[in-house]
Amino acid sequence: MPARILEPTAENLRRAAEALARGEPVGMPTETVYGLAARAFDPHGVAAVFAVKERPTFDPLIVHVSPAMVARGPGALEALERAAVVSASSLGEDARAVAGRLAAEFWPGPLTLVFPRHPAIPDLVTGGLDTVAVRMPRHPVAQALIDAAGAPLAAPSANRYGRISPTTARDVVDELGDRIGFVLDGGRCEVGVESTVVALDPDGSPAILRPGGTGAEAIERVAGRRSRRPTARVHGPGAAPASPGLLESHYAPSRPMVLLPSRAVDLSPDDATAVAATLPPGGRRVALLVVSGDALAAADALRERTGLEATTISLSASGDPEEAARHLFSFLRALDSTGADVLLAEPCPWREGLGHAIADRLARAAARR
Ligand code: TXA
Ligand code: MG
Repeated sequence: MPARILEPTAENLRRAAEALARGEPVGMPTETVYGLAARAFDPHGVAAVFAVKERPTFDPLIVHVSPAMVARGPGALEALERAAVVSASSLGEDARAVAGRLAAEFWPGPLTLVFPRHPAIPDLVTGGLDTVAVRMPRHPVAQALIDAAGAPLAAPSANRYGRISPTTARDVVDELGDRIGFVLDGGRCEVGVESTVVALDPDGSPAILRPGGTGAEAIERVAGRRSRRPTARVHGPGAAPASPGLLESHYAPSRPMVLLPSRAVDLSPDDATAVAATLPPGGRRVALLVVSGDALAAADALRERTGLEATTISLSASGDPEEAARHLFSFLRALDSTGADVLLAEPCPWREGLGHAIADRLARAAARR
């Protein structure tokens, strides 16, 4: 039986909490993307999440807490320690101070902070690392589910491993519908890309492990320090990556995807030839994802330069990064289902704020599998 989409009524929240108590994963809306939740202290529930997603166990999960469970503000760290999620005392004073400021400024919201783990957190949640990733989602249904469960919830995005993240309850059913009981409906995700994952160096400098819904510039401003962006990439089996979110291929459509070297209007004759050559033999059907600006103009330019006729969609006709981020995964999904032989994507034109996350997701959606 396919998963049922439940309105987030008090009764349905109770049913969802009961499923979690039985160790059955539940689809949970957040402001970034939909998650697949289990009680963080329940190794069986967490194991079920890995199984449902077909996720390798070296890739750790984010622990989600609510404002009722962990006071907002600079005291968040102490509250997380009392909740047996983190061992903040092993963080240096500078890192503690910065963590407190970041939590006070960005929680609840799309920021995940990596801390030394509390021994009570199951190994499976942390992928065997001695750190744990924590975030306080802003979505009221996520908060209500955490409170109904009465426990922090470990939740990855509710997609099959490596695939496009879901931003509606319907997407979750399409991804995992035959494997889970229900999804709480929280509407369309307001941010549309996942949280920014940040670890703190001993001096409190932020290391951006995954760009996301909170811009690096805003994080630097609040931290009062420059950030760094670890670039270590890991291919294939072997040592665990610093953050498995750095794996090269992710967010992959079922069709091959190619990132254009420039916008369609700016394609050089050589680029145009190379783009036409990305089509498989006999393939003619092309889809084009425009990040910013007019879809028709881009489709016309692509036809003129390559002779290819593309089903085209723009993430934001008006050039608004927030709108583009909100549409990114759902439009990728839509283009993927057109049956095109190849998906083309224009590059992200923004170099700050949400631009980092959009560029990162496009690059990884197009990465060789
Ligand atoms: O917005 C989000 O973060 C969504 C919603 C559901 O909250 N969740 C999400 O989870 O994107 P997931 O599992 O798809 O991505 C979690 C990322 C992975 O890249 C993982 O490697 C990283 O967080 N991560 C988790 N624990 C970590 C740790 N202890 N150290 C470094 N990276 C960690
Ligand atoms: Mg994910």
